[in-house]
Amino acid sequence: MISTDPARPLPPGRFGLPLVGETLSFLRDPDFASKRQAEYGDIFKTHLIGRPTVVMMGQEANRFILSSHMEHFSWREGWPGPFRELLGESLFLQEGEQHRRNRKLLMPAFHGAALHSYFDTMVSITQHYLQHWQQQDALVCFDAMKQLTFEVASTLLIGSEPGALTEQLSQWFTTLTNGLFTVPLRWPWTPYGKALQARDHLLAHIEQVVKERMAHPTQDALGLLVQSRDEQGDRLTLEELKAQALLMLFAGHETTTSMLTSAMMALAQHPKSLETCRSEQQALAMSGPLSLEQLGQMPYLEQVLKEVERLYPPVGGGFRGVIKPFEFNGYRVPEGWMALYQMRSAHYDPHCYNQPDAFDPDRFGPERAEQRRNDYTLVGFGGGPRICVGLAFAKMEMKIVLALLLRQYQWDLLPDQDLSLSRIPTLRPRSGLKTNLQPLANAVRSR
Ligand code: HEM
Repeated sequence: MISTDPARPLPPGRFGLPLVGETLSFLRDPDFASKRQAEYGDIFKTHLIGRPTVVMMGQEANRFILSSHMEHFSWREGWPGPFRELLGESLFLQEGEQHRRNRKLLMPAFHGAALHSYFDTMVSITQHYLQHWQQQDALVCFDAMKQLTFEVASTLLIGSEPGALTEQLSQWFTTLTNGLFTVPLRWPWTPYGKALQARDHLLAHIEQVVKERMAHPTQDALGLLVQSRDEQGDRLTLEELKAQALLMLFAGHETTTSMLTSAMMALAQHPKSLETCRSEQQALAMSGPLSLEQLGQMPYLEQVLKEVERLYPPVGGGFRGVIKPFEFNGYRVPEGWMALYQMRSAHYDPHCYNQPDAFDPDRFGPERAEQRRNDYTLVGFGGGPRICVGLAFAKMEMKIVLALLLRQYQWDLLPDQDLSLSRIPTLRPRSGLKTNLQPLANAVRSR
């Protein structure tokens, strides 16, 4: 706990127009935060989504918000209203003891034996999609990856069977996601009204599955969650299970889609890295089909994934509500404001990374290990005690998809497409990344 000195000034910056503040510039200008940082330094005030907000940039700010002073911040107060209503009482919104207990209950479904048991399903879904994609002239990678990652998430997290129902669930999710970033007008024809209906359909489906799992426990993540008990021997209630399952599905596919799309783009643009990745995979394929053991023997692919996380973090940062006043860099921030940590500031900081604009996976190799110079310089999955719960799940899935792609296929970016990046709801090239996926002439046809 730090006390604040009321004589300290508020951070520099400006609040912008009445009511809207600077929300429109923030949403429209991808360089909003870096321009203000150049003008005011690593902390500045602004006014976003109806609240006075302090934006805190860089590695020290990341450590301050994510770990060392996290008791000054609330997740629940940080999420805009539509998130709270559409995503319900799930881990995203919980704090303190309730969060600690529920995170502990969720963890076993994403680590250790459970994670290993997901391997075969991830591989077979990926193989199915790869075969389907090679028949298409122009593959829009973002859309294609979204189908794949949703099928992986819905199969492994809530035990759905591929087919019409999974497609319906995916459509409801798209409608729900579209409502997260709109004005919450509740009429049935508005994007928000449609998102509320989609949420109700999803929750009704999940409720049915939860009840089935309660009667007949299974080994998918929801089955494990239904069986999980806290220290008192209590388990999550039906309402809690429904909210956590909805959150897992939401958090578990669009972010992974974004990072896989960026990885395909970066590799197509950097033939030397692509070749190194491919050689690593082909050497492994000589010793047999893709296996769990092999996933631990891909150091270069892991470096590529870190570099993609650094240059193209799917989520730009995180909002928090300030629940206790604090001081940072000599400025005072009052209770009731919002705080935003911004990933790109540390990821692109020349004090943290050499030539930060360059795609250079070797910076994460054992000789240079640039991320070790300082903590909290790579925060694409957040950091500290509330780091992404699905980190290991997402990394395993991304390694499987990329390893199989690299072993069996080549791809080029099609000409005349808009590769500028759109950032909301998750980062992606505006074209969706159009490629022509072709089987490799000398592909190693192991799985
Ligand atoms: C590439 C894929 C992913 C990325 C980039 C990502 C990113 C993030 C980030 C940045 C946070 C913290 C946000 C903040 O500090 O405000 C977070 C939290 C979280 N993520 Fe992920 N995520 C990914 C995949 C997943 C998957 C696959 C799941 C579940 C199946 C998942 C579930 C969660 C949950 C439940 C939290 C909240 C943790 C807590 O509050 O304790 N994520 N994720």
